[in-house]
Amino acid sequence: MADWRSEEFYEARRAELEDRVGPHRFKHSLGVSETAASLARIYGADETAARVAGLLHDWDKGYDDPGILARADELGMELTDELVAMPRVLHGLTAAEALGREFPELPPEVLAAIERHTLGDVDMSDSDMIVYIADALEPGRKGKTVEKLRKQVGKSNLRELFLDVYAYWVLLIMERRHPMYSRTTEIWNSYMPEQEVFLSEANPDPIPWGRP
Ligand SMILES: [Fe+2]
Ligand SMILES: [Fe+2]
Repeated sequence: MADWRSEEFYEARRAELEDRVGPHRFKHSLGVSETAASLARIYGADETAARVAGLLHDWDKGYDDPGILARADELGMELTDELVAMPRVLHGLTAAEALGREFPELPPEVLAAIERHTLGDVDMSDSDMIVYIADALEPGRKGKTVEKLRKQVGKSNLRELFLDVYAYWVLLIMERRHPMYSRTTEIWNSYMPEQEVFLSEANPDPIPWGRP
């Protein structure tokens, strides 16, 4: 098995990616890879894991809507009706599944960051957050909010930066009139310290959306 940390592994996947996605997406992926590595350096996370996950996060982005649904089916993935109706978000899930099978040497940390880069999740690890942030802030992304967020790198802690980027994406989804993933509120609330306010002597049980 090839060492996933080696330069050979990176270069081989990079060459394959170029054949899988268009030139724009390829450039974006290299930008995410570099940005993720730099965030990992700044925030003390595994730089190689971030660099590799960043490179591979859009591995399946070359499929169109029917193509990605067929891909999920081929991989034997069971999708909820909601996800079937949102094929644009599936590429992270199929990529993690397919890459895990094709390259079993890839650690769960890398595969989870790829899987979670579209929808996010509760309990995101540092690597998960780094790839999620890098996807939004790589050099090819333009806009006032993006520039503002970039300035926060190294100033905000990783969790705050992640929440800023998550909030930015949620607003974009609303502005573009795209459907909202039903777990978005649950994911957001899981990072809110205010949920502890809801705990009182009169009501000692955690609120329903709290972390277990
Ligand atoms: Fe993506
Ligand atoms: Fe991306």
